Amino acid sequence: MTVKSGLEGVVAATTSISSIIDDTLTYVGIGIDELAEYASFEEVVYLLWHRKLPNKDQLKELASQLADNAELPEEVITYLKSTNLKNVHPMTVLRTVISMLALYDKNAEAMDSDSNYLKAIQLQAKVSTFVAAFSRIRQGLEPVAPNKDLSYSANFLYMLTGDKPNAIAEEAINKALVLHADHELNASTFTARVCVATLSDIYSGITAAIGALKGPLHGGANESVMKMLAEIGEIENVESYIQEKMDAKAKIMGFGHRVYRGGDPRAKHLKEMSRQLGAITGELKWYTMSEKIEELVTTQKNIPPNVDFYSASVYHSLGIEHDLFTPIFAISRMSGWTAHILEQYENNRIIRPRADYTGPEKNSYIPIEERA
Ligand code: SDX
Repeated sequence: MTVKSGLEGVVAATTSISSIIDDTLTYVGIGIDELAEYASFEEVVYLLWHRKLPNKDQLKELASQLADNAELPEEVITYLKSTNLKNVHPMTVLRTVISMLALYDKNAEAMDSDSNYLKAIQLQAKVSTFVAAFSRIRQGLEPVAPNKDLSYSANFLYMLTGDKPNAIAEEAINKALVLHADHELNASTFTARVCVATLSDIYSGITAAIGALKGPLHGGANESVMKMLAEIGEIENVESYIQEKMDAKAKIMGFGHRVYRGGDPRAKHLKEMSRQLGAITGELKWYTMSEKIEELVTTQKNIPPNVDFYSASVYHSLGIEHDLFTPIFAISRMSGWTAHILEQYENNRIIRPRADYTGPEKNSYIPIEERA
């Protein structure tokens, strides 16, 4: 048996949710460039769940379902206020809170499609409220209740800051959420599908996916990119810092991709957003440093940036704390994870590959007295 390292190139499922063919990403066949340009995140959530764009009434209904279910259970707020949030990563707390949502969902074990769809709505509605509440409570501030009159993206920034965002900030978050929503069989989505393929519940699938996304080789990369930019500090230091990394054959966060070879089609949208936000905030240096890093890495190693690279300077320009970057990825990918979980339940078979055994053969039990 030959092992495909990292399951590279292995087709492990069928899906009608998103596709990556010849470096082109589509959600249900609609190109990511069009979606980034025109779609609201609510439209994308509906598209991923129902495999079609919503009409006006359907969009209005989904938007109000997300708004009506955005509040967190009081027990979750109490838990957050009673925990020292400074000593734990928000992705770890997110995993805990998803499990708490299961505790307070009397329908948690129901596996019929209607119940699972309602859980998907609850999870999508509450994940952004959690990230904002986590940030506020960690700063010693009261959480801000969701505002039903705002879009999903604007509401997230409002709950985070207490102020209604300006148009460019709302557009930036909306675009970032659209771009991160789904990505075929990425590691965290595959994790979710493996988990629920045992017919485990959606909450278990989502906590498993959150665990996978947290890693710096996956969703955790955006926080690592910002850490790298902060370490470099100024444009003058970029060349020596990156050259040292490349000479040491170290991984440069925000670059490379398992599937894309000619480049991640999402990166250009976040690059432009980073430039626009940098110009508005007067802090263009994060963009110019990122651009310089991209020039060095792509020319010397021929490895293009991925979705995580410019998202770091976008979120920083919006004043978002750096360890919230991956939780924001989770806010968006909650739509893709739930879509894939619902799809897995539709036509399910347990996912159970084989392993090539390399341990000792013909071994036997030795009484403890005779062991070295
Ligand atoms: C995401 O899969 C998805 O769809 C994920 C995602 C999504 O939307 O869900 O797109 C989101 O996770 C994006 C990726 C974020 N991670 C990073 O930015 C971390 C840095 N990137 C690398 O760790 C890496 O490129 C991966 C993890 C993204 C891909 O890993 P692979 O396919 O296993 O590639 P590899 O590590 O085997 O690298 C192949 C070669 C190696 O050189 P050699 O050892 O063969 O000489 O390319 C080199 C690597 O050293 N390489 C890099 C590099 N990425 C690959 N060298 C320096 N810096 C890098 N970032």
